[in-house]
Amino acid sequence: MGTVKCIGILTSGGDAPGMNAAIRAVTRAAIYNGLQVKGIYRGYKGLVTGEIKEFKSQNVSNIIQLGGTILKTARCKEFTTPEGRQLAYDNMKKEGIDALVIIGGDGSLTGARIFAQEFDVPCIGLPGTIDNDLYGTDMSFGFQSAIDIASNTIDCIHTTAASHSRVFIVELMGHKTGWLTLYAGIAGGADIILIPEIPYKMESIINAISKRTQEGKHFTIIAVAEGAISQEEALLTKKKLKELRASEAGKYPSVAYKIGDKITELCGHEVRVTVPGHVQRGGQPNAYDRVLATRLGVKAAELIMAGKYGYMPCVKNNQIDIIPISEVAGKTRKVDPQSDVVLQARQLGLCLGD
Ligand code: F6P
Repeated sequence: MGTVKCIGILTSGGDAPGMNAAIRAVTRAAIYNGLQVKGIYRGYKGLVTGEIKEFKSQNVSNIIQLGGTILKTARCKEFTTPEGRQLAYDNMKKEGIDALVIIGGDGSLTGARIFAQEFDVPCIGLPGTIDNDLYGTDMSFGFQSAIDIASNTIDCIHTTAASHSRVFIVELMGHKTGWLTLYAGIAGGADIILIPEIPYKMESIINAISKRTQEGKHFTIIAVAEGAISQEEALLTKKKLKELRASEAGKYPSVAYKIGDKITELCGHEVRVTVPGHVQRGGQPNAYDRVLATRLGVKAAELIMAGKYGYMPCVKNNQIDIIPISEVAGKTRKVDPQSDVVLQARQLGLCLGD
């Protein structure tokens, strides 16, 4: 690896609020330190197809407050093949790019690790995902903004649920983890929170609803993670669970509908399901995510200037730190069922489904 004079920045996988703040921070700090910057469009796809443009400071003006990513994003099949990665490397060389800053979640960093190993390319990763499931960082940017949207959704549901004395299920994103549902559920005052890390029993859910009815509370709000599973489903192999989900797909578009159906069947309550979906990834990043993405982005530029490659700037105990990408890629950070936040939720009388 020679001296780095020009860096390429890309955003990959699912977009997350704060990605633009990160692009801006990396670009500005790199230019400040005398580097040339190139924006690579549509994630790894732009590297494979050569959709690359030089970025000056003004290219990242007026974007810190914008959601999504000005660089666009994609999930790129070609880059998963050796031929695709060779094309990507050739384009990098053609454009004079010496190092890459990759902004995204686990899939994006796994791509970075493979590419760096194959071609000895200096890479820096940045954690941007609403799922907050990246290993090695206490926080990813996008997460806090998504909590705001998801908890606001629960707030809106609260008034109508109370008026109609209904059970409402709000299904939230988070892929295979429950971070977003747990935090939005607590912030929104949900009564039952169901996350993949704590497989649920229908009996517990029914008991919690009945207890509320006995206490004179005639509505219940359930925040359920899209990846939530029952205790019986938790015993299945990955393959069997996939088959089960496929066989139920016609009847239940997602887990919330399945739980809703069972509640009506077991205790006769009227249930409504709300799935905010990609709304949770949209809109403006909140101030927290803008600052976090900015701090991590500047750290990325600092690492390049110091010739320290193969790292992801991260948050550890409220401080900006770094961790090798090789330790992060391919792992998932899950909610610990014994963690403080879960135990605190239990002390509020919340039902966690177990
Ligand atoms: O990783 C972010 C995320 O929004 C997950 O929460 C969700 O499971 C997935 O992406 C949805 O992916 P897509 O945008 O490809 O439908």
